[in-house]
Amino acid sequence: MSEVHPDGESRNLQLIGERIRSRRTTNLFLKQAVSRALVRDAIEVARWAPNHHLTEPWHFYLLGDDKIARSVELIRTIVAENKDEDIAEFKATSAAAIPGWLIVTCRKSDDELLQLEDYASCCCAVQNLTLYLAEAGVACKWTTGLITRDQRFFDLLGMDSEKEFVVGLIWYGYPKILPTQNRKAVGDILTETD
Ligand SMILES: Cc1cc2nc3c(=O)[nH]c(=O)nc-3n(C[C@H](O)[C@H](O)[C@H](O)COP(=O)(O)O)c2cc1C
Repeated sequence: MSEVHPDGESRNLQLIGERIRSRRTTNLFLKQAVSRALVRDAIEVARWAPNHHLTEPWHFYLLGDDKIARSVELIRTIVAENKDEDIAEFKATSAAAIPGWLIVTCRKSDDELLQLEDYASCCCAVQNLTLYLAEAGVACKWTTGLITRDQRFFDLLGMDSEKEFVVGLIWYGYPKILPTQNRKAVGDILTETD
């Protein structure tokens, strides 16, 4: 049971609120590697996301050094094809500095509602994962850049793009810095009815 404060709010309640609020996206990471055991633990927690019909629609691809290096080169190629060589060099250099690469996919469904629900569950799973890692001092950047929609990336991962799609490429590592963020006031997003 959680401890009760004099003001009636439990310490655990304040803590979970603060943990959720303080998780931040960053892509500036220290070189220090994150242990695979920690990421496996985060995946174990991630799959406890709410999930209609318990379809467990997610799959996780945790990349090793070889696949990371090939993904960096693929980013260089894709950006050069879509933008120019200078931007490609910049994107490849930035990507090469990222220590952790995890791809989350969602199974495809022909049923529109099921697809929405499965995708929603995968997003909840990503949030579980990033919150768990944040607690361990590891920050993430959830990306949906061009590489996450490129068949060459699917081939590199060995995923079946007829059966699953990429929800996000999760870059992770110990952060150099964490940016600040703001959100609208609750009054601007909440309608309370009688
Ligand atoms: C589905 C999804 C896709 C995202 N894709 C990108 C991306 O491609 N590039 C990027 O810089 N950030 C991406 N983000 C991260 C958001 O930009 C980030 O969450 C937002 O700036 C709020 O910052 P916070 O996560 O620190 O609260 C993505 C986030 C989500 C949920």
